[in-house]
Amino acid sequence: MEYHVPVMVEEVVAGLVADPGGIYIDATAGGGGHSMAILQRLGPAGRLVAVDRDWEAVAVVRAKLAEDVRVSVYQGSFAELGALASREGLGSLCGALFDLGISSHQIDEPERGFSYREDGPLDMRMDTAATSRTAAEWVAESSERELADVITRYGEERQARRIARAICRQRQIEPLRTTGDLRRAVAQTRPQMLNKTLARVFQALRIAVNDELGQLHDALQVMQSLLAPGGRLAVIAYHSLEDRLVKRYMAELERGCICPPRVPVCVCGRRPLFRKVGRKAQKASGVEVGQNSRARSAVLRLYEKIEVD
Ligand SMILES: C[S@@+](CC[C@H](N)C(=O)[O-])C[C@H]1O[C@@H](n2cnc3c(N)ncnc32)[C@H](O)[C@@H]1O
Repeated sequence: MEYHVPVMVEEVVAGLVADPGGIYIDATAGGGGHSMAILQRLGPAGRLVAVDRDWEAVAVVRAKLAEDVRVSVYQGSFAELGALASREGLGSLCGALFDLGISSHQIDEPERGFSYREDGPLDMRMDTAATSRTAAEWVAESSERELADVITRYGEERQARRIARAICRQRQIEPLRTTGDLRRAVAQTRPQMLNKTLARVFQALRIAVNDELGQLHDALQVMQSLLAPGGRLAVIAYHSLEDRLVKRYMAELERGCICPPRVPVCVCGRRPLFRKVGRKAQKASGVEVGQNSRARSAVLRLYEKIEVD
């Protein structure tokens, strides 16, 4: 089975790669699909740095691309990109890609614990070598209120309190160790659409376990300094929480002068740091969605770092 089918490849490469001799980073290398497409656009002097926090993805990308002298592959999270860049001397990037969320392989592999459809350990860590808590530990150690908060905030689930109560009731009888245990606890609340509810609860836990929104915030912050003037940032989000964070964070960086209208001459001196590329976010074409259902929710936003004079 294919590791992962990358989405909006043409749109990403066209929007991201302006200089075939530049340095690019694919911060979510996954199965290497976008990395390969970027490499095809680069010339002999170009360089691609492929990064993923998942060791399995890193091994797959190394096997596919390591023979290409233009490529370096690293394991690391968004929060570690700044340190990685200074260690490897990666200043002045021409472009960076963040294709957020998890890969099809991660979902399809029951051992990873991301899917409510298959039975497996309740893990959900993207980096399984990390000392961070698994979803099972997270569920065991969080209060009912914390569980309800996370399911509300990251799952946008209206029955979050009932679900958190059911999880806590269940864990008093026996710890929730598997995805099946969690599925059964959620099913006890008899939601109208069980699969949709399960998808929201699993998404919420996954976001919490991997601190996905904190990581995304770190990624956007570090790109302000790592990108060269004129460098491009491409972010593909798959749910509104991620997309909203990107839109709001970048809107702040797109803002120039913030002086009140009554001040005749600007005194704040603030200049925009980024500009949007294209007027609106892009969505996958109907043809692509027909071939790859994962593309349906994808939203691509592109930004360019502004040259300072
Ligand atoms: C949607 S997949 C990317 C697929 C990839 N573009 C391709 O063409 O195969 C997302 C990948 O990003 C990785 N990832 C998610 N959050 C990350 C983070 N904070 N730091 C590093 N990698 C992350 C996941 O492990 C996963 O492999």
